Formats: sequence, structure tokens, C-alpha cells
Amino acid sequence: MQKLSPVPYGSLIFAPMEGITDEAFRKTILKLYPEWDYLATDFLRVPSAGKYPLKHLVTHFGKELSDVGWVKDKTMFQILTSHRSFTVEMVKDVAQLGYPWMDINLGCPSNTVTKNGGGSSLLLDLNTLRSLIKNIRENFPGRLTAKIRTGFHDTSGFKDSIRLLNDEGIEMITVHGRTRDMMYKVPAEWNYIEEAVKISQVPIVGNGDIWCSADVDRMLKETGCHAVMVARGALKFPWMAQTYKRGFREETSHERLQKIKEFFQEYRTQLESESISLRGLLKQSKSVSRYMLDGVENGEAIRRKLLLSQTPPDFFDILKSL
Ligand SMILES: Cc1cc2nc3c(=O)[nH]c(=O)nc-3n(C[C@H](O)[C@H](O)[C@H](O)COP(=O)(O)O)c2cc1C
Repeated sequence: MQKLSPVPYGSLIFAPMEGITDEAFRKTILKLYPEWDYLATDFLRVPSAGKYPLKHLVTHFGKELSDVGWVKDKTMFQILTSHRSFTVEMVKDVAQLGYPWMDINLGCPSNTVTKNGGGSSLLLDLNTLRSLIKNIRENFPGRLTAKIRTGFHDTSGFKDSIRLLNDEGIEMITVHGRTRDMMYKVPAEWNYIEEAVKISQVPIVGNGDIWCSADVDRMLKETGCHAVMVARGALKFPWMAQTYKRGFREETSHERLQKIKEFFQEYRTQLESESISLRGLLKQSKSVSRYMLDGVENGEAIRRKLLLSQTPPDFFDILKSL
């Protein structure tokens, strides 16, 4: 596998989001907003016994996108695992399929995941984490990165976890500036991102509470991080990377509504090209619309109508009428 060149300074990464960043969504972003430098799959959980057929991994990344070399190069394939899982088997399969970038999820806060020793709970036991990362590193020749929170209950192990990831050959670390116990309740603590920058030998990606393109610059300047990852803010403004790269002017409500319509027109086309069920089409469209109307004039009322719609035509007719 050819090694990818390093991620350039100031890159913008569209974050992994479970239930959102599937193939149809990423195809929409790639087509409408190619200004995002990198994208991510949502996490694929390593099975606790046996292994997935290869085609399951391909479907997770996206059947069509798996055939496009430059897309593979700009997309992190994220896995979620624990010491009980059959990690090495899956890591070898990801490598064999030629995905050049794997990201390890060390931040997922959900109870189902953490009670099985996965996601952010790995930050509680650094010995286990070390052997897990070692195993993955030995079996994955491509770019290997990790995404962490600042700790589980508290941040006492934060510096050690950064050092550990450095020692074991992780090539870039995304820091979401919250502990697992904080969930999303408090503002992200960017000072931990700054701390990671000071002690890490490998690039740090800042993540947490980037809500507009001006925040991207603020994150780069205040923390000294190498690149920025955006999740919920990128659902609110899927075109944020475009706004950032073209200058900071934020749009009027009218302009935003036009962009929202444009987004959903393309997203619908992509979902329909996958022969998704009508129920699935409606469900996905509702999930993706969750943050997009924040701050738009009458946004709350529009969102309510969208969420109450019973069929895809209802949903898309409401958008058309705006
Ligand atoms: C709906 C949703 C799904 C998420 N799924 C994932 C995931 O699959 N993998 C992951 O590493 N983080 C996941 N996250 C966390 C985000 O990638 C990000 O770290 C977090 O939301 C903080 O960034 P933000 O303030 O820009 O939203 C998810 C977040 C949201 C809101």
C-alpha cells in the first residue's frame, strides 16, 4: 500500500458521525462542497467474534466510493473496537481492500459501547490501550490515526494517553476537548488541545464547538493545532469549508435556505440512487436536517414541520415551498 503524504497544515476535516456520514451523505458533500480537505466514515464496530465478509467493509465505506482512488486517499475509515474484539482480522481486511487511512475511535461515549470496553472507555486502561494499538499498528501499513476525548471521568490520564499514542506509531491525533462524562454538556475545552500540541510529536487535529468558519481560524490560532475537524457545525453549515476558504462572510437567512434546498436536492438524488426505502429516505433526511435550520429566520417552525412530515414528498415539498 502506498503511504499517503502528510495532512497539510490548516486542513479541514468533515468529522465521522454515526447515522449521518454514510456513502450517500459523503457523495453529496464531495459533489457540492469539495472544499472539505478530508472526510470520514462513521465508525465500523469490530465484531466481538468472527469477522465481517469483505463486502460488509466495502459497503460501509461505500461501494461506488471504494472504486475512486482519490476519495479513498481523502477519507478516514474509522473503526471502533475493544480488547475483546477480533481487531487484527478486521485491520488486515481494511488494508487488503486498499483503504489507505484508518482511524481508531477512542471517544465514543455511549453506554452500550463503553460497557463493552470500547470507545472512550479505552482511555481508562492505558495498558490495554497500548497493546491494542500495538496490534493494530503491526497489521496496518497505511496512515493510522486516532480520535480521542480528553479522558473518561476526568483528564488525569490525558497527557499519558497522548504520549502512548505517539509511542505506538499513531500518525495524527484528533482531540475532542471533552471527557466522556461531559458528553456534549459543557463547552469543549480547547486548552487540552493546546496541551496536546505542546507534548505531541505528531500533528494534533482540534475538534469541538466549531460552529462557524471564523471558529476554524480561532481554533488554529488559540491552540496551535495542525488541522481542524468539524461535526455538528458541519451539519449546520455543510458548506462551511467553502465559506472558510472563500472568506468569512456568513450568509443571510435567504441564502442559507437556498443552500439547504440545494443540499437536499442532491442528497435525495444520492439516497434514491441507492434504492433506499421510502421510510429510510424520510428518516435519513430528518436526521440530517437536525442542525441545518438553527439560526435561520423561522427555522424552528420549519424544522417542526419537516420533522412532522409523514412521507418523503411531504418533506421535500416543505423545502421547495421555502
Ligand atoms: C450524530 C453524531 C454522531 C457521531 N458519531 C461519531 C462517530 O461515528 N465517530 C466519532 O469519532 N465521533 C462521532 N461523533 C463525535 C463527533 O465526531 C465530534 O467529535 C463531536 O461531535 C464534537 O465535535 P463538534 O463540536 O464539532 O460537534 C458523533 C457526533 C454526533 C453529533
